[in-house]
Amino acid sequence: MINIGLLGLGTVGKGVVEILNKRQKELEDLTGRKVRVKKILVKNVDKDRGMDLEEGVITGDFEEILNDKDISIIVEVTSDLEESYTYIKKSLSAGKHVVTANKAVVSKYFEELSQLAADKDLAFLYEASVGGGIPVLKPLKEELALNKGIMIQGILNGTCNYILTRMVNEGKDYEEILKIAQDLGYAEADPTADVEGEDTLRKLRILATLVLQGRITEEDILSYGISSITSWDIENIKNMDSTIKLIGEARLTDEGYIALVHPTIIRNDSQFANVDMVFNSIIFRGENVGELKFYGPGAGKLPTANAVLRDVLDIINDSYWKGNPLGTNKLKNANHTFRSRYYIRISGSDKEVLELFQDALDDIISEEGNIAITTKEVLYKEILDRIQSLGIDRDQYFIARIMD
Ligand SMILES: NC(=O)c1ccc[n+]([C@@H]2O[C@H](COP(=O)([O-])OP(=O)(O)OC[C@H]3O[C@@H](n4cnc5c(N)ncnc54)[C@H](OP(=O)(O)O)[C@@H]3O)[C@@H](O)[C@H]2O)c1
Repeated sequence: MINIGLLGLGTVGKGVVEILNKRQKELEDLTGRKVRVKKILVKNVDKDRGMDLEEGVITGDFEEILNDKDISIIVEVTSDLEESYTYIKKSLSAGKHVVTANKAVVSKYFEELSQLAADKDLAFLYEASVGGGIPVLKPLKEELALNKGIMIQGILNGTCNYILTRMVNEGKDYEEILKIAQDLGYAEADPTADVEGEDTLRKLRILATLVLQGRITEEDILSYGISSITSWDIENIKNMDSTIKLIGEARLTDEGYIALVHPTIIRNDSQFANVDMVFNSIIFRGENVGELKFYGPGAGKLPTANAVLRDVLDIINDSYWKGNPLGTNKLKNANHTFRSRYYIRISGSDKEVLELFQDALDDIISEEGNIAITTKEVLYKEILDRIQSLGIDRDQYFIARIMD
């Protein structure tokens, strides 16, 4: 019997229980053992869970799970950052394997928890933390044994992609689509972490650290979100035979590495253009394998629970990555050298603003009221400095990089 201690019974936790119940026989045939959830930790033990659970499975006491010698695998799918860090650390220290879907905790404590698991000869797996249901981290770890990682790039946040897709398809305003996304459960009541790029940044931190095999923290990544985009920007972008996505990217350059999360204008025939709604996609470039592309559902109850259970299966089958997968490359941040072409819109401005960008101008889309331009290739820092010199609020302008 394989006994799992499940921490959290929300969207993902319920999916884990549902799939385990549905696939009991197949899992027993495959592993030769019964796989069951022995205990479930929740915050509110009195809440009606709307599902059949054995008497006494639910608990509000983590120590009860930690001290249960029969439980060998902890599946951590709570939503808290610091408490889940404590749960994971205590579980590994007590000799239990850990699977988590929590990108915030992996991103913040990646090095420490990876080392702790390696020291204890235990699994610390987090496939569902990046790309929801897409199997991407395990294949990447394998590629990185054979390849030097050169670049990782992706649409990593379903909420932003949903909003941008519907804005492009329907021409509606950002606020209107955000409200629909919230009503449908695709966006949180407080959408800041998604729309300001923080969620994508955490996932990129995890991917970049693995792919470039050195320490890249959240602070090492340039980040700019989508919250100031307007339907007028979308119209301008469509007139460029292009569409827009929030893309996270880390790559090696001659100067070091560049890592950024940014709204990105891509041509309608480019690889990411058809990755729509809540789907995610990730492109990896390795020195031998070339480019690999991953695509699939970026979130959701069953896809995410499925990814969690893939990790559980790897533990049961003893087929998980052994040792610490993080590398020791000394990486140099070269974000100050990042250059690109840009689309810039500044609301309610007059022609004089154009002078600020005179030497960088490529095309003027509009020069009255709402200034919109595209630029030649210039340093990102220069563009930001010039906009900041105007002293305008963040919601008065929008910048997108143009990817050729
Ligand atoms: N939802 C997705 O599609 C998705 C996709 C990828 C990754 N993830 C990650 O998966 C994790 C779970 O997401 P979710 O959507 O399932 O969250 P959720 O629906 O909010 O559920 C969270 C669960 O954790 C419990 N919980 C919260 N804080 C706790 C604490 N301090 N101690 C004990 N239990 C606690 C809650 O208990 P109560 O039920 O009693 O309130 C609830 O059962 C998050 O880290 C999320 O980022 C989610």
